[in-house]
Amino acid sequence: MELINKRYIPEYLRSLIVEKDDEMAEFRLQCEEKKIPIVHKEVGQLIKLLITMTNTKRILELGTAVGYSSIMMSKIIDSEDGLITTVERRQLFIDQAKSNIDKYNPPTPIEIREGDALEVLDSIEGEYDMIFLDAAKSKYMDFFPRCMKLLKPGGLIVSDNVLYKGMIATDDLVVRRQKTIVRKMRQYLKFISEHEALETSILPMGDGVSISYKK
Ligand SMILES: C[S@@+](CC[C@H](N)C(=O)[O-])C[C@H]1O[C@@H](n2cnc3c(N)ncnc32)[C@H](O)[C@@H]1O
Repeated sequence: MELINKRYIPEYLRSLIVEKDDEMAEFRLQCEEKKIPIVHKEVGQLIKLLITMTNTKRILELGTAVGYSSIMMSKIIDSEDGLITTVERRQLFIDQAKSNIDKYNPPTPIEIREGDALEVLDSIEGEYDMIFLDAAKSKYMDFFPRCMKLLKPGGLIVSDNVLYKGMIATDDLVVRRQKTIVRKMRQYLKFISEHEALETSILPMGDGVSISYKK
């Protein structure tokens, strides 16, 4: 991620994070070895902190992959009423996520909704304390209206990869085939920064992460 920060900065920050859960440390390593896209270590640590600080119980995640972040969040939620709803469209990942949930047996229930988030979102009901956007970067704008409806006042939308290898911040880094993602992500960041019902902060951490508080 040296396109966002000099390499030594994230390396140093990661070296300070103490992963107290051996199982999760091993799970992370396995995902990294298999090149499965999972949340950056320091972003994961930020999410764990936000869950604890805000006493988050119910989380909606878009983008399950093999279940790493769902299981990580499930272990941090401190409530018997907790729930994680996570959406994934790729069958191979859905199968692996189910088997990982069985294997790690985390305390807070995780329900996987299968299919394209844009369609699945319409069938999700209830109120969430936190929404973690970690699926198709070009669709954050499209996911937003439904997510906003599902988020309780006082809740957080945490969006990952919002600086996308630095391309979002400068045209100098944009490669031609990523132009649409860049345009749409810039639109999304402007939108959530200006939105009257939100208070947003964007952090140059991992691949860029935004945190929006719903007033
Ligand atoms: C970065 S990975 C998620 C990583 C996961 N949150 C973690 O940290 O362990 C993004 C995932 O989103 C899924 N995805 C992308 N677009 C999607 C969409 N429109 N609907 C559902 N899933 C989608 C991809 O298949 C991929 O598994």
